[in-house]
Amino acid sequence: MFKKKGSSALAISVENLQREFFHEGKKLEVLRGINVTLEPASMVSIRGRSGAGKSTLLHLLATLDKPTHGRILFGNEDVFRYSPTQLARFRNEHIGLMFQFHHLLSEFTALENVMMPALIHRESHEDAKKRAEELLKRVGLLDRCSHKPGELSGGEQQRVALARALMMSPSILLADEPTGNLDPKTGNGIHDLFKELNETLEISIVIVTHDEVLAQKMPRRLMMNDGLLYETTLGDENATLTKL
Ligand SMILES: Nc1ncnc2c1ncn2[C@@H]1O[C@H](COP(=O)(O)OP(=O)(O)OP(=O)(O)O)[C@@H](O)[C@H]1O
Ligand SMILES: [Mg+2]
Repeated sequence: MFKKKGSSALAISVENLQREFFHEGKKLEVLRGINVTLEPASMVSIRGRSGAGKSTLLHLLATLDKPTHGRILFGNEDVFRYSPTQLARFRNEHIGLMFQFHHLLSEFTALENVMMPALIHRESHEDAKKRAEELLKRVGLLDRCSHKPGELSGGEQQRVALARALMMSPSILLADEPTGNLDPKTGNGIHDLFKELNETLEISIVIVTHDEVLAQKMPRRLMMNDGLLYETTLGDENATLTKL
């Protein structure tokens, strides 16, 4: 069902990534020097306590935010040097985003929300509609195409957001709590879909999750703690953490 794009899988190198926020005159060091290389077509989970900086890292990987220090290379490209137009094009072509809060457009139906990235990319309405319907079918929502976000459950909205994230066949899918509102069976279905996307299309998948079962299923598991990233080896995270 999914079509492979011409563009090949991308490696991501994160080098000494730091993100500070200033709040009421105080400096908050949320990311304190993260180094990690994600091979092309990786499947990675990131866990860590609430407030650890996971979503902050995901926003940087999505190129929606800029680091205070350090850089991220996609392939060999330092995309933060791009102009805003180049960066927007890069994001549209390579990054699929599924956020913690879905950011669906409330005035539009599920189908229109999924079609939106392709319409922005000036694809024909007919092609966009066909692909959006296929994706909604794949996430089990073909019978909800004409519902607006307010007429969908939380888990359904999450799945619409996933379909939208996949619309442009991204090189990298970044998902923040993708199974947060889902029952175990639907959550397993999402994991199976991630696996299929990874294996058939070589999409890299980075998942931030508190869902231990999902995290354990990913071939590479990272843990964020105190603004730094750790590799977790063995099943039990607390047993072996290696700073990256
Ligand atoms: N724009 C901002 N200004 C100031 N502080 C911020 C800003 N964005 C995030 N923070 C702070 O950075 C920290 C990390 O936030 P982040 O959203 O990355 O956490 P998280 O690991 O995703 O948590 P959760 O599991 O609850 O989603 C938090 O303590 C938050 O208050
Ligand atoms: Mg978060």
